[in-house]
Amino acid sequence: MEIVAIIGSHRNNQNTQKALDYFMGKIKVEHELFEYNVNQINVQACTACDHCIPHQGECIIKDDMTEIYKKMESCDLLIVASPVYFSAFPSKIKALIDRTQMIYNLEDKSVIKNKKILIIGIGGAPYYPRQFQAVDNTLEWYKKTLSCEEIGFVQFSHTDELPALDNQKCLEELAAIAEKINMSVVNN
Ligand SMILES: Cc1cc2nc3c(=O)[nH]c(=O)nc-3n(C[C@H](O)[C@H](O)[C@H](O)COP(=O)(O)O)c2cc1C
Repeated sequence: MEIVAIIGSHRNNQNTQKALDYFMGKIKVEHELFEYNVNQINVQACTACDHCIPHQGECIIKDDMTEIYKKMESCDLLIVASPVYFSAFPSKIKALIDRTQMIYNLEDKSVIKNKKILIIGIGGAPYYPRQFQAVDNTLEWYKKTLSCEEIGFVQFSHTDELPALDNQKCLEELAAIAEKINMSVVNN
């Protein structure tokens, strides 16, 4: 299976990356992983030029999204792993999500493979209502656009005091989701 992971933290190798790595360590079936860390890719903000309406499937901005579009369209499992900044997606990953407008504007979406999506949310503060609400709202249309079935939204709170790898409850949730994937691939 092909897995695409988008990592939204502006810090490398911290809670977001560690939670993702933990999950990937539990995937036992054969797979290919394409990781897109927002600190290591060049993705410009959407300029709302609407070029992609008359020019179906084409974004006027030529940067790393050219490859990421293809991978997001054709993978079997999409993982969005991101912290919240001011209770919302940080700016770099939000830019990547906004650029998906090109796919949203496709009249014929038959090239978009049906896929599963796992969301890993990371919040430094102790849990509070709506800590991940904006992430959920933003992903509503992202998921529809990319034909995703959500298989989990694991929410790590309080990471500024409790590192993600010490949060047993969330790790168990990730392990259970990985196990379901392992079983479903084996049984197919
Ligand atoms: C600019 C900024 C804004 C933040 N805003 C929030 C917030 O609104 N709610 C929250 O729970 N944590 C907030 N945090 C804390 C981060 O979510 C937390 O440090 C998280 O662990 C960062 O992910 P990382 O460890 O992968 O870098 C904020 C951090 C930064 C840098």
